[in-house]
Amino acid sequence: MNLRKNNRGLLAVAGGFDEPRPTRPDAKEEEEEERGMMSEVESPNFWEQRYQEGTTRWDIGQPAPAFVKFLNSPAAPVDGRVAVLGCGRGYEALLFASRGFEVVGFDFAPSAIAAATCLARDAGISAQFLERDIFDLVDEFAGYFDFVVEHTCFCTLFPEKRPNYVRLVNLILRPGGELIGLFFTHSRAGGPPFGVTAGEIERYFAGNFDILSLAPAADSVPARQGEEHFALFRRK
Ligand SMILES: C[S@@+](CC[C@H](N)C(=O)[O-])C[C@H]1O[C@@H](n2cnc3c(N)ncnc32)[C@H](O)[C@@H]1O
Repeated sequence: MNLRKNNRGLLAVAGGFDEPRPTRPDAKEEEEEERGMMSEVESPNFWEQRYQEGTTRWDIGQPAPAFVKFLNSPAAPVDGRVAVLGCGRGYEALLFASRGFEVVGFDFAPSAIAAATCLARDAGISAQFLERDIFDLVDEFAGYFDFVVEHTCFCTLFPEKRPNYVRLVNLILRPGGELIGLFFTHSRAGGPPFGVTAGEIERYFAGNFDILSLAPAADSVPARQGEEHFALFRRK
């Protein structure tokens, strides 16, 4: 995989993970660069810096409308334990908590956790926010949650890490628990956010989950219109 800085100042990946990788004279150098950049993006410091600099362009300042619509629909669950992975400033966590769910938001950037905790306190909403690497949650929360909420966390992970994410969601949900996800299904090269197709998402999850629904989201914010899929997957 060929990694380079893109013009948004974030990391870019040229070449999809399904494409053949040509042998190049400088392949070793590129591999080393890739490893360095992967460890940078996977470190809390990379994200913490964005919160501290105020360059959180993914932040829409509210829960994504698809979650509000889902919770207002007859299909919505009414209670249960919810984990929000990579919760950022906690908008989805606060939405679910305000509807009576018992919510824990997880993020490894301290500033995100501090901001979410403040927002909850100011709104008088009871939700817990914990500074954790999501890949360390299994020992602490195996089988604990009824629901996992996904919003722009999966797309920050290098494609190689997606199977680990699926395993994580599987293990922190109780059997029969559900993933409620809004996936960023854009097709641009580079990332984060890394693009993914609905078909790929289905293939990642189908082994451990029943795909209850996976459909284009009709109510995305303008910048993401036509590039999101809303998902409901049940742990087998
Ligand atoms: C693109 S932001 C999205 C934040 C939030 N979901 C939102 O939509 O505003 C991705 C978030 O995931 C967090 N994150 C990325 N990898 C993580 C990991 N391994 N463990 C915990 N948090 C992680 C980052 O710190 C960041 O807050």
